Amino acid sequence: MSAAAAPSLAEELPLIDANGIERTFRMGDEDVRVLNGVSFSVQRGEYVALIGPSGSGKSTLMYQIGCLDTPTAGQLTLAGYDTATLDDAELAALRNQVIGFVFQTFNLLSRTSVVDNVALPLRYAGVGLKERRARAREALSRVSLSHREDYSPERLSGGERQRVAIARAIVTRPALLLCDEPTGNLDQRVGKEIFALFEELNSELGATLVIVTHDMTLAKRARRVIELVDGVIVNDATPAGRA
Ligand SMILES: Nc1ncnc2c1ncn2[C@@H]1O[C@H](COP(=O)(O)OP(=O)(O)O)[C@@H](O)[C@H]1O
Ligand SMILES: [Mg+2]
Repeated sequence: MSAAAAPSLAEELPLIDANGIERTFRMGDEDVRVLNGVSFSVQRGEYVALIGPSGSGKSTLMYQIGCLDTPTAGQLTLAGYDTATLDDAELAALRNQVIGFVFQTFNLLSRTSVVDNVALPLRYAGVGLKERRARAREALSRVSLSHREDYSPERLSGGERQRVAIARAIVTRPALLLCDEPTGNLDQRVGKEIFALFEELNSELGATLVIVTHDMTLAKRARRVIELVDGVIVNDATPAGRA
């Protein structure tokens, strides 16, 4: 699947359109329904925080949106594609082209240099080595880490590691950044810096942000806060004081 083959209407459609998403896990001889009919849509350029108690299904929902898992029921349309109609290879291509993931645990390869960690998604996209490195350097410069290109991730602080992970997430120039508790392993000051960086990517590159966080101070920086409790959306609003 190439960007050129995307439906021409795709730019105008919601980037995420979730309708009645359910996810049930089989636990022994019991079915546990973790997502219980989640419906919402997100337009390109939005900045959304996803909050809710531990165990409410936030990560499970992010996996569905990110096509890392398949809903038990419901429909997910991503960048104009009805994901149920795509096979595994097409889903992988859609993920690679449309989504950048940022996780709490950074997930960097420790025996690989910073620049090559960042370049990795481009390898899966079939980009040649020289262009991979050039684009990885450009992404590292966006997150102010040009001076760490040749380091091993092991020599970096937590905040720097997360910035490397963010550079890796944006190197494919995805429309959507899905971030699951990206500041969960960082102290508050560094967490604020990471949010400021996300906001810069939102305003300067137009990246759509969906960020799971436990930190209400950070969540309130978003233009829209979606609250999940027991696998359903109980609130979806602009925080008070935000335009
Ligand atoms: N692969 C799985 N198999 C069984 N249960 C799961 C699986 N993934 C998540 N769960 C359960 O689903 C519930 C929601 O988990 P999760 O989405 O990780 O919540 P949150 O991210 O909001 O803390 C939890 O009770 C968790 O144990
Ligand atoms: Mg979680």
